[in-house]
Amino acid sequence: MKLDVLKNMSYGMYIVGACDGKKVGCVVNTVVQITNNPITLMVSLNRDNETTKTILKTKKFSISILDENVSPEIIGTFGYQTSREVDKFQSVIYHDVDGLPVLDSSCGYITCEVIDMLETSTHIVFLGQVKSMDGYKEEIPMTYRYYQEVLKGKSPKNAPTYIEETTTKRTVWKCKVCGYEVEMDTLPQDYRCPICGRTITDFERIEK
Ligand SMILES: Cc1cc2nc3c(=O)[nH]c(=O)nc-3n(C[C@H](O)[C@H](O)[C@H](O)COP(=O)(O)O)c2cc1C
Repeated sequence: MKLDVLKNMSYGMYIVGACDGKKVGCVVNTVVQITNNPITLMVSLNRDNETTKTILKTKKFSISILDENVSPEIIGTFGYQTSREVDKFQSVIYHDVDGLPVLDSSCGYITCEVIDMLETSTHIVFLGQVKSMDGYKEEIPMTYRYYQEVLKGKSPKNAPTYIEETTTKRTVWKCKVCGYEVEMDTLPQDYRCPICGRTITDFERIEK
């Protein structure tokens, strides 16, 4: 399987918030609108996230839509720390809507009531019927690609889109004449460059 294919899928960037006395929340890129009437959204949350545990109890959650101007520290706090150890909302400006925290710096927020769930071994997919939405701002919503390519951000293991970094080196043979590259442990004796026809004596070995 070519895992690179998954990198061409598109996502937005959000903060899911919940509250069971204590306000909790985490970064997600897995929010999708699945129906229009009634408006229903889904979000995929790792079972280990404190946010997931709170939503399982309270059956409601908020979504704050992040735009390209969001402070990277907000992504760091909400995406790489757990609400079990940190009061994440202490470091941001937020307000309560339907008893749920939403970020003032978002370019729109939505609150949802859980109407169904799909349980996988690692994640729970919550279906949420929209109860309210407001705070629209004319900003460019942040995409997951922007986060990766412009902010050079990565995803932790709990994110469904996490891709394990491979440390295994690849052996690549490069034709010194035309620059053609082929990935193989060893080149067969009779191998010829498919571009310029040179033999293996014109190939150099590169570790990538
Ligand atoms: C870019 C990015 C995308 C993420 N997407 C998801 C996601 O869709 N679902 C999920 O469960 N965790 C996702 N995470 C990981 C959680 O935000 C992270 O595990 C967080 O620390 C959980 O916090 P909590 O324990 O307070 O709920 C993502 C993190 C980042 C940085």
